[in-house]
Amino acid sequence: MSKKTFYITTPIYYPSGNAHIGHAYSTVAADVIARFKRLVGFDVVFLTGMDEHGQKIELTAKDKKVTPQELVDNISSKFEKLWKILNISNDQFIRTTSNFHKKAVKKIFTLLKSKQKIYKGFYKGWYCTPCEAFWTETQLDENYKCPDCKRDVKLTKDEAYFFKLSEYSDKILQLYEKNKNFIKPASRLNEMINFVENGLEDLCISRTSFSWGIKVPNDEKHVIYVWLDALTNYITALGYMSDNNRKFESYWPADLHIVGKEIVRFHAVIWPAILMALDLPLPKKIFGHGWWLTKDSSKMSKSKGDVIDPAYLCKKYSVDAVRYFLLRQVPFGTDGTFSFEAFFKRLNSDLANDLGNLVFRLISMIERYFQGKLPEQKEAEEKDKILIHSLVSAHKKVAYNIERLSFSLALKEIFKLVTACNKYIDDTAPWKLLENKNKNIRLATILYNLCESLRIISLLLYPFMPDTSCKIRKQLTIDKTINWEDAKRFGLFKASIPITKQEVIFPRIYLEKEKL
Ligand code: MSP
Repeated sequence: MSKKTFYITTPIYYPSGNAHIGHAYSTVAADVIARFKRLVGFDVVFLTGMDEHGQKIELTAKDKKVTPQELVDNISSKFEKLWKILNISNDQFIRTTSNFHKKAVKKIFTLLKSKQKIYKGFYKGWYCTPCEAFWTETQLDENYKCPDCKRDVKLTKDEAYFFKLSEYSDKILQLYEKNKNFIKPASRLNEMINFVENGLEDLCISRTSFSWGIKVPNDEKHVIYVWLDALTNYITALGYMSDNNRKFESYWPADLHIVGKEIVRFHAVIWPAILMALDLPLPKKIFGHGWWLTKDSSKMSKSKGDVIDPAYLCKKYSVDAVRYFLLRQVPFGTDGTFSFEAFFKRLNSDLANDLGNLVFRLISMIERYFQGKLPEQKEAEEKDKILIHSLVSAHKKVAYNIERLSFSLALKEIFKLVTACNKYIDDTAPWKLLENKNKNIRLATILYNLCESLRIISLLLYPFMPDTSCKIRKQLTIDKTINWEDAKRFGLFKASIPITKQEVIFPRIYLEKEKL
């Protein structure tokens, strides 16, 4: 029987500056889901990439005295490197300047036009260049600024192509009604219902004021609106409108689009309308996560400075510390403020003290009491049974929370096990058993139970912290194969293989020594 497929995407990134932790957020989250889905047996396609057209890029390139292509080549390669540093397991990396994408977008435009979903008219409205978004007068804020980024907008009047978005209000409301999971979390669904209930206007999908973009077929002075170009990446990446659409047939519709909250509107309103116009199936879920804010509570944004570079954090404090912090610190749907103090606190308490110390204590005891080779012992006492029960039942809670994108709760469940293991050591006080030779069996059993606990913890941690998971497994000489089913069973740890202490997995951070 062929495997069930799972198609997950992140937004594609604007290459107009350096990446910051806000960008890393969508991608790390998507990586956790992709890794988890692969573990539980799905055939996964995980797509990320770059959104490389638009006026903003043309202007930035001019400013930097390079061509737009040089600019996007340079920044795209930095993003690709960043995803490697962050251990992102994407299967595809799309760039909207790729020929295959440009060709497909032109065909999509032509198809929509032939279906009379696109027409030519005049556009008069307010344009926000940094957001690449058009606003009607009523949508502007009280100071006539962009309602999203609060920056200046420009009044523009142009001949332009329009997409008949206004035809889709009812269909989109029906979609929300029928599929309550289409937009998550629920608060974002309510925002979208309000937005659509106010009525949708036709969407201007071409510009003539700049040239860096995909040209409208047979009317080349028009450039296709960057959001139409960008959104369609989710299908062109799978070969839609190409000579080989096998992947598209197998993986579309997407199971999950992960996006930041400010672009839910594009994904939950415009995108389904385009797909409906193309007679294509709709994605199953759009999750709008919260923002990472700077200390003054504004959105961390590459164009505003004061950004935290994820590559720097990874290099200095380890990739898994960053992955852990991003997903543990705040619930995925809400905003969070990044501070080094909070980052170090998490690192020291959860990773260095609780998890790191557990691994270190256990391996030290195995070395000291059994010269690194643990005799296999499995008789369980009451105390052991409680620990064993919490271990073998954890996978359900972890899986449930990952599926709901409640990453913080999933990690909390895993770290409850770490705490339980540390408590088990304190309660059973293995060092006291050593005095009595007969008690060596009990001593070995306790240490065996702890090895087994760490085996299960390493499995559950794998989607979040793949490096750490592998380090723990290596230190305990556990087989490299990660199999989710093995988290459901206790007693798989092979004792008798020698164990030796290696590096400390999470060294403590001393705030006073850090140069920030
Ligand atoms: N190019 C569009 C997406 C097109 S998808 C068809 C775009 N790019 S972006 O580079 O500006 O943002 C990419 C992602 O990073 C978005 O999901 C956005 O919400 C996220 N973040 C950017 N800054 C952020 C924070 N400060 N905090 C959390 N995520 C934010 O939008």
